[in-house]
Amino acid sequence: MKPAQGAFKGGLARLAWVLCYDPAPVDLPTHYSYQEGRLFCQRVPLERIAREVGTPCYVYSQDAIRESYQAFRQALAPIDPLVCYAVKANSNLAVLNLLRELGSGFDIVSIGELKRVRRIGADPSRIVFSGVGKTREELEAALRSGILSLQVESLAELEALAHISREAGKTAGISFRFNPDVEARTHPYIATGQQRHKFGIDPADTGRISRILSRNPQLRAIGVGCHIGSQILDPRPFRDAFARVKAYGDDLRSRGLPIEHLDLGGGFGIPYRPGEKPHDLRSYAEFLKRERSDYKLLFEPGRLIVGQAGILLTRVLYRKQAAGKDFIIVDGAMNDLMRPSLYQAHHEVAPVREAAPIKEADLVGPICESGDFFARDRMLPDFASGDLAAVLNSGAYGFVLASNYNSRPRPAEVMVSGREFRIVREREGLNDLFRGESI
Ligand code: LLP
Repeated sequence: MKPAQGAFKGGLARLAWVLCYDPAPVDLPTHYSYQEGRLFCQRVPLERIAREVGTPCYVYSQDAIRESYQAFRQALAPIDPLVCYAVKANSNLAVLNLLRELGSGFDIVSIGELKRVRRIGADPSRIVFSGVGKTREELEAALRSGILSLQVESLAELEALAHISREAGKTAGISFRFNPDVEARTHPYIATGQQRHKFGIDPADTGRISRILSRNPQLRAIGVGCHIGSQILDPRPFRDAFARVKAYGDDLRSRGLPIEHLDLGGGFGIPYRPGEKPHDLRSYAEFLKRERSDYKLLFEPGRLIVGQAGILLTRVLYRKQAAGKDFIIVDGAMNDLMRPSLYQAHHEVAPVREAAPIKEADLVGPICESGDFFARDRMLPDFASGDLAAVLNSGAYGFVLASNYNSRPRPAEVMVSGREFRIVREREGLNDLFRGESI
């Protein structure tokens, strides 16, 4: 675009903003607020965290995590489910420990996540282990830990598990992940509930499953489950999936398997964009109460519990203009928060010193890829070098997806409680970058 056109477009955008002036520039998640023009997490000014911990840095509100867990639990109270928080969404030990204290169980997908939940003293009878490709080492570790259920996703995995448990002389609760073949409108990389996806056991294998189980009494088939995808805002696919999972559970029961629970997975979306509505969990609970017959229900929410509780705090390094376009270059990058680059995900950006959006610009990181951005063609405040920005709703799939790309140390993580904060993970140092390497 030519500079003159850019200026015209920018002028129109400014006029549009003046005409619909809204003193609150962005919708802040609960426990984030402006106090005398400064952005706070609970009662801690984010400027203080930036000063003492540096940037980029993840900040989590302890109250926000607690409240979203409790709200989920309360909305579903009529069906008294077992909630197994999906550790992959945010696996910081402080987050896991908080959720354990609140009574949550855990959904894990690797031996690393098993190690984390054991580290915080999680009750094994509230742990389920999901994933299509568990290794022998992972199956053995899960058997030793005596977790509630191993979610089996293929005939081959069932055979491996039968063999390993027989050898080890261990019993195991297992549950079958079933693919209900429902379409969930979300990003294609995180839709998982259709037949063409790699997940779930093939119902055509049910006869063989029953035969393997009858020869292996150490395996007790106690559950059937599904997980249809993530960041789903439409309630329909959840209800459709439920009906199919239950029918599969009924089928397995009719073959004599002691199916006790239906695991309905996670996937509940959160509002990232203005105007998006959260789930009406109460009406979902009513539906489930009517339909579930005597099955115990289990859920694996991740994003819903931690997503809105966290932000990525980042500092503006430079401003620049190129070909009539404005760029705000910050010290955080796609290696710190991958979601915009990987899923074209939208995250609202809030200034840490209150300022209204007046400029269309890109908020970008220092990494050598055009895909390294947090916001594109977005109305943003007139940030200057040294200003702080908060990339909102970054508590889920934020730090856990961080990498050392471009040899950048991974950021610190901070937990805020009231007017206090503590570092719950140190920023990596430069020497950490080549730990374990040799010349
Ligand atoms: N259970 C299973 C078996 C899962 O695979 C997942 C997420 C969950 C539960 C939790 O889903 P949630 O409630 O958080 O939607 N990195 C992507 C999301 C990947 C989700 C993978 N599975 C993102 O940043 O959007």
